[in-house]
Amino acid sequence: MSLAIGILGTGAYLPERVLTNADLEKLVDTSDQWIRERTGIRERRVAGPDEDVATMGIAACRQALAHAGIDGSELRYLVVGSNTSNYMYPAIAIRIQHGLGLDDKLAAFDLQAGCSGFNYALYVAENLIKNEGGYALVVGTDTNTRMLDFTDRSTCILFGDGAGAVVIGPTDRSRLLASFLASSYNGKLYLKTEFSELNSPFLPKPTPVNNYMYMDGPEIFKFAVRAVQESLRRILAQAGMTREEIDFLIIHQANYRILETGARFAKMPMDKVYVNVDRYGNTSAASIPIALHEALMEGKIKKNHKVILISFGAGVTWAATALEWLS
Ligand code: COA
Repeated sequence: MSLAIGILGTGAYLPERVLTNADLEKLVDTSDQWIRERTGIRERRVAGPDEDVATMGIAACRQALAHAGIDGSELRYLVVGSNTSNYMYPAIAIRIQHGLGLDDKLAAFDLQAGCSGFNYALYVAENLIKNEGGYALVVGTDTNTRMLDFTDRSTCILFGDGAGAVVIGPTDRSRLLASFLASSYNGKLYLKTEFSELNSPFLPKPTPVNNYMYMDGPEIFKFAVRAVQESLRRILAQAGMTREEIDFLIIHQANYRILETGARFAKMPMDKVYVNVDRYGNTSAASIPIALHEALMEGKIKKNHKVILISFGAGVTWAATALEWLS
């Protein structure tokens, strides 16, 4: 009997530099208490001068490959979800491919789907290898701190940098049960300046140039709560599962209050919902694979556990995956 496609190994990379709420108190008019009460975040990580989305992705991929116990030469695809590439091209995925010594060995490309980037990349990679065989690396990596306005207290407190990766392919370690992707236009979370305006001699220059992420926090909060509820309903129906059958829940780490709302809706205690938003803030596309990796390493996901991964983000996008950890 042929093996189902599942996750064989996971990896994560978090930069060393820690940015605490106390550090942010020195930059903007905020307080540790306000940030903790409204978001649950205590600190986040900031990529160093020699780091970027590709270097962080390479570190996460190396760990995922070692955990999976497969050689890079067995990979057919490398799909990266990210929103914060430092270059328009080449793709982050191709820079990771090169860093892993896999030139000519696989096809690598990026996709952008806000903080749902990892779930999107997982869906695409699963369907590619379902048809074509072999293994794939799926990566979420973001350097959010390079897109933030550190004079805007409503956004700069929320985000951090990091990367996570998984290896998928035919395996008896876990199996992917169901997944879906969804999107809809909503301009409440976007970058203020159109990149195309900056260099073109044919367009008026934006004044002032403002390349920062903009967000209507409370509106995005309402969307996020709806997205988590709708995602739970939809993924459970698709996987033929009931709420009671969920053993562990991983929700995009944007705000602790959103995680609590998701837990209440799923009727699950918070100890079955992964939380690292307190340590890393919102790492966008990296959030789900970092949380999955840590939950596995900490033994929170156990043999025969059914796990749901739910993400939501700019676009807006939302997506979910159901999987079963088998060994
Ligand atoms: N420190 C102190 N006060 C702050 C602040 C900060 N860092 N940021 C905003 N405020 C103030 C605002 O100026 C506003 O003041 P006002 O009422 O005098 O105008 C007030 O706090 C906003 O309060 P409220 O609307 O009750 O905030 P909130 O409970 O919705 O929390 C967010 C704000 C941004 C933390 C919350 O809306 C959120 O997390 N939204 C989702 C963001 C997100 O996850 N985005 C990414 C999705 S992938």
